[in-house]
Amino acid sequence: MIAFLLFLLTSLGLVINASTFSACSNCGDFVVPYPLSTNEDCGDNRYKVYCNDGNLEFLSATGTYYKILRIDPSANKLVISPPPILKNTCYSSDLYMGGLLLDESLPFNISTQNTVMLFNCSYNILQSPLNCSSNSICRQFEEKVEEGTGCMDTLCCHYLKDSAMNSHKIRVKVGSCTAYTCLVGFKPNDQLETWNYGIELQWLSPN
Ligand SMILES: *[C@@H]1O[C@H](CO)[C@@H](O)[C@H](O)[C@H]1NC(C)=O
Ligand SMILES: *[C@@H]1O[C@H](CO)[C@@H](O)[C@H](O)[C@H]1NC(C)=O
Ligand SMILES: *[C@@H]1O[C@H](CO)[C@@H](O)[C@H](O)[C@H]1NC(C)=O
Repeated sequence: MIAFLLFLLTSLGLVINASTFSACSNCGDFVVPYPLSTNEDCGDNRYKVYCNDGNLEFLSATGTYYKILRIDPSANKLVISPPPILKNTCYSSDLYMGGLLLDESLPFNISTQNTVMLFNCSYNILQSPLNCSSNSICRQFEEKVEEGTGCMDTLCCHYLKDSAMNSHKIRVKVGSCTAYTCLVGFKPNDQLETWNYGIELQWLSPN
């Protein structure tokens, strides 16, 4: 009888473990590694991502979806696409949401590998520790990248988003800076052609 109970408990445990640790099926061609979860039956539900028409997406605290470009499960990292700057303007598509805001109760944050460029900033931004000099890399983006042409000749700046700054948001707003983009793993002498656009997020291990 005791042996039977033990057997029952063990197999119950196995069933629970199997369902807790199952990865979700692919989203389009995208492998969705554990703990990321596209629905309630797989992954870990604290790590929600969304599969919309074969695109894997990340949802911000303000209800904006950002396309996931790649995932590195061994480093607990994923990279989302910076929002587009709307054509003929210097407005990021998420400007009226205040930029990128992550839900602070979720186990994701913005990693320290991101170099953010801000565009069309007002002059009071010059008091902050940003690089707004005429040789900031944001100038190259304005002058040489199609998407940046709407921001040409605006005050722009860049900075490395390290732990000193808030790791749950990239703020833009009318009257401050109205557009941004971001590079992952940028090093000071990297050529424009090799820039790696994206915003790298990191997640806390489930256990
Ligand atoms: C600003 O960034 C440029 C390009 O990376 C760099 O050459 C320059 O030294 C930086 N200026 C300051 C004040 O940090
Ligand atoms: C720059 O920002 C101001 C408000 O801060 C806005 O009125 C203006 O239209 C923006 N410029 C561009 C080119 O989008
Ligand atoms: C982001 O989260 C990771 C994992 O929890 C942590 O190690 C890291 O220090 C956090 N980074 C920042 C900038 O808060």
